[in-house]
Amino acid sequence: MISASAYGKIILFGEHAVVYHRPAIAVPVTQVQATAIIEPAAQGITIRSRQTADVISIDSSRPAPTDPLATIVRLALGELKRTTANLTITIDSTIPIASGLGSGAAVSTAIVRALAKWAEVTLDAAAVSALVYEVEKLYHGTPSGIDNTVIAYQKPVYFIRGDPLRTFNVTRPFTVAIGNTGLASPTKITVGDVRQGWEADRARYETWFDQIGDIVQQARLAIEAGEIDRLGPLMDQNQAILEHLDVSSGELERFILVSKRAGATGAKLVGGGRGGNMIALVNEHNVQAVMAALKDAGATSVIVTDIK
Ligand code: MEV
Repeated sequence: MISASAYGKIILFGEHAVVYHRPAIAVPVTQVQATAIIEPAAQGITIRSRQTADVISIDSSRPAPTDPLATIVRLALGELKRTTANLTITIDSTIPIASGLGSGAAVSTAIVRALAKWAEVTLDAAAVSALVYEVEKLYHGTPSGIDNTVIAYQKPVYFIRGDPLRTFNVTRPFTVAIGNTGLASPTKITVGDVRQGWEADRARYETWFDQIGDIVQQARLAIEAGEIDRLGPLMDQNQAILEHLDVSSGELERFILVSKRAGATGAKLVGGGRGGNMIALVNEHNVQAVMAALKDAGATSVIVTDIK
């Protein structure tokens, strides 16, 4: 039996505008992960997801299925130069689906890493990221590439679509609480709606994207200078523009409100929005109160993660 895993992620600043070539900051979330387990099988490849109960068969006598799981297996085997394989691949994941934590990219990354181990081939993070990006297109339509990048490289990234990878120094560690609304919201839909809005009124959307880009740059400078107090207001400003883009929701805004009432100095949705998760900037004095407030508000899970 061979297995490999990949962590989830959050976008601290810059989702949606990153699709339009503005910068964004994302970090891995090591508290949640996807795992792929490979076992020998009699014939063909079967992929089973314990999370969704999906079972997909890839059999050389039939046309290859085009769903994301079958696609990443096919692409990875091609990259690894393996034409035949008789395997069962089981996917186990603690990352909620369609919730802004990078579930799709993490599942794909875990599969590529496990198949590389099975084939005894070393694939670097760039090769893994490139394969996963191909499948992100199936999940997202027009992905920026930030999810596959932060998940395959497994480190904080300052990401600009199409540019070489840049990372940044976290001079003073800080902490966010991640609250899950429990409402799945496919990124493809929110990304598609933002595109429609942009097509209808490019000037207005470009201004919002520029404003998000400025916030991201200020956030990077604040993180590098260890000025964590500046991040809360920047999260609030980022959230306000995400509301203009119409990717927020009543539930996300309620979670943001209760976490700030409990002491968080800033909060915003993460990822595609309209559901999924939000983050609140916390410290050792208010983290327990913020967690309790989010749970009381109905969060299906609250994860506390340190960014360092
Ligand atoms: C999804 O995690 C982040 C979005 O900006 C989409 C993308 O960057 O591809 C909403």
